[in-house]
Amino acid sequence: MPTHRVVLIPGDGIGPEVTNAVKRILAAAQAPLTWEEHHAGLSAIAQGKDVLPDETLEAIVHHRIALKGPCTTPVGQGFASINVQLRKRLNLYAAVRPVRSIPGVKTRYDNVDLVVVRENTEGLYSGVENEIIPGLVMSMKVASEAACVRIAHWAFRYATKRKRKKVTVFHKANIMKMTDGLLLRCAQRINEDEYPNIEYQPLIIDAGCMKLVQDPTQFDVLLMENLYGDVVSDLCAGLVGGLGVVPGANIGDEQAVFEAVHGSAPDIAGKGIANPLALLMSTVMMLNHLADTRHDEACRKVSAKLKDAYNLTLSDGKKTRDLGGELGTEQFADAVIERLKG
Ligand code: NAI
Repeated sequence: MPTHRVVLIPGDGIGPEVTNAVKRILAAAQAPLTWEEHHAGLSAIAQGKDVLPDETLEAIVHHRIALKGPCTTPVGQGFASINVQLRKRLNLYAAVRPVRSIPGVKTRYDNVDLVVVRENTEGLYSGVENEIIPGLVMSMKVASEAACVRIAHWAFRYATKRKRKKVTVFHKANIMKMTDGLLLRCAQRINEDEYPNIEYQPLIIDAGCMKLVQDPTQFDVLLMENLYGDVVSDLCAGLVGGLGVVPGANIGDEQAVFEAVHGSAPDIAGKGIANPLALLMSTVMMLNHLADTRHDEACRKVSAKLKDAYNLTLSDGKKTRDLGGELGTEQFADAVIERLKG
């Protein structure tokens, strides 16, 4: 059986714990994957390497696919985010985060099914900041027409392929008339010219967040710029059980890097209690991506098998603590592996 070589970046904090658990599950599912481990961020520094080693970037460029654990970014000082650097340097312009209700996980809503599509290379999230004079600092929000057109196209194309009905653009173009206004104008034009069958809904982000918590089932695909996407993704995670259950993909024209929405969770790192499900769900997305882009149906089969196995595990009430269960990271992985067997 042909195998796909995937760059694995374990990350730091809970990263190595959840990546180990996911690797075990994938091996049990006989996923047609082999791993090539590389480092970034704190784990690269610990090995005496650059914070984002060239060899890590080169490996992703070469193999075109990576699975990444979370990487810590120091707060208020220190090196620039590895996550932002990876996305920008590899031009992974579309962040895709499906947010769905999970079997066996009780939340306020039991039928959430939406997808956050986030522009991943521009905006305030780029962290382009300057000190103008002592005591006066600024942060630059950049939007280019090329990037707005590219992400709007991506979102409408995705909605069409997935048979989704509506793309809602969260924006603040009443205040940021030029930058957010540009994304809005591009999305509207692309909708009218090329995707008239998909409903287009512009929504000011503050009211959009209120509507999300009141009734998330009214949303389908949400499109927004980088910083809003970062914040809204976590809000949406809260609607379906938390950060332990929301996967993600960073997709460009050449490469794709799959990672959970959550971070390195320093508060629980090393305790063996992190939920590996979000990363496992990210590998399900990765296997489907491999099936789509490399026409490998074996990947699609394994992805379906994994999805069934974790859904059944959760329906059995076997859950990690963040979801109200009692299992640790490895115990949850064991339970999924048991389900894969039979
Ligand atoms: P976080 O996502 O790491 O944690 C937020 C809360 O959710 C914590 O209470 C944590 O224990 C919990 N949590 C997160 N993932 C979990 C899991 N798999 N299972 C159970 N509980 C989980 O966000 P925080 O604390 O704001 O960020 C910590 C570090 O992670 C920061 O340095 C941040 O920059 C970085 N980060 C990295 C990301 C990435 O590599 N893509 C994404 C988000 C944050």
